[in-house]
Amino acid sequence: QSKPQILTIDDLEHHATLHLPKMVREYYNGGSMDSYTLQGNVHAYRQWYIMPRMLRDVSRIDTSAQVFDRKVTFPCCVAPAAMQKMAHPDGEEATARAAGAKGVVMGLSSFSTTSLEVVKKECDEATAATEGACVLQMYLFENRKVSEDLISRAEKSGYKAIVLTIDTPYFGRRLTELRNNFKVPSHLTMANFDASLGVKTGSHLRTEERQNSSSDNNTNSLPPPSSKESSRKTTTNPPPNKNDPSLTWDVIQYLKSITSLKIFVKGVLTASDAQLAVRHGADGIIVSNHGGRQLDCAPPTLEVLPEIVDVVGGRIPVHFDGGIRRGSDIFKALCLGADMCWAGRPVLWGLAYDGERGVKMALDILEEEFRACMALTGMRSVEEIRQYGRSLLRRVST
Ligand code: FNR
Repeated sequence: QSKPQILTIDDLEHHATLHLPKMVREYYNGGSMDSYTLQGNVHAYRQWYIMPRMLRDVSRIDTSAQVFDRKVTFPCCVAPAAMQKMAHPDGEEATARAAGAKGVVMGLSSFSTTSLEVVKKECDEATAATEGACVLQMYLFENRKVSEDLISRAEKSGYKAIVLTIDTPYFGRRLTELRNNFKVPSHLTMANFDASLGVKTGSHLRTEERQNSSSDNNTNSLPPPSSKESSRKTTTNPPPNKNDPSLTWDVIQYLKSITSLKIFVKGVLTASDAQLAVRHGADGIIVSNHGGRQLDCAPPTLEVLPEIVDVVGGRIPVHFDGGIRRGSDIFKALCLGADMCWAGRPVLWGLAYDGERGVKMALDILEEEFRACMALTGMRSVEEIRQYGRSLLRRVST
């Protein structure tokens, strides 16, 4: 059978999800409740035309950008996403190698199916010729010792920052997961947590709490375990530790008191919360609605980005994620003031399609489209896109 032609992220999504068992496909693709927010994220880009400038000598286009003290190939990081070995047996290792080789930053979910040390090692080996790097996403658990342990391991391993996800005090109701009786396949483990330490695993995913509750034939068709990790760990997951729902903005000071790593908060959706993040000492924020997986009816991230950028006023970096499927989506977010974009599902679809090679394809597509968009708008550097900013866009009239 001949290989399909993959030109866009939509092509990748189509061909990747053909492979995946229904339960996994719907876990990756789904949103909460009616998926208004999920759909809104993607559609928001269609509200903006791009106003191109001509005759500006675009013979040299520099797509590179600065983030976490690194020079990355283009302004797009890999968003943290849990349990990547469900997409492909190589899981996070493949993503780390592809991100490292491409020269972008990988955000590792602490609910990964590969340990943070192994991921960092894979990323380092791939970054020989690039400035790719890793940052660790985490939640804060009721048992603080667990989180502190995770942070100190991230420090030791050379992670560049901690991304604290703040939009998950409670679980978004993901109806497909409930209908599919989603559970983590028994051959996979939450590799960052060790039962012998009394460290609990899989806590943030309501669905994982039910992992042993029933059988599901779909899991039989999941990819087999990767050899390296499966030999490393044989324990079954202990009962979940709880995400701390009592957190307030003081959490930033607490984290800063226990680590010198930069603290970014992920999940800001209002100008008021952006102000609070600055006031409480966050090193950066990520405007995010968790890819439409938490509060349904939350606004599309592109919609709220400008007011957040305005209120932050350059005091700290404003990162952005949600619905990025094209290079022009990255371009529009930068025009509206984002300092950096993150892509979630495009990378997962690449991974599901063809492991490391598929993740590379996803990143290459986004970069190539972004480069073309820069050339066709007369923008020669990311800095120039920032300078011209909103003048490069026009709102579609309704
Ligand atoms: C996520 N996301 C996420 N975020 C986080 O902070 N910790 C996590 O463990 C996960 N896990 C996760 C799993 C899956 C399957 C998806 C699709 C997403 C959210 C992610 O970091 C990011 O905010 C969104 O994916 C961005 O939207 P797009 O790019 O997927 O549209």
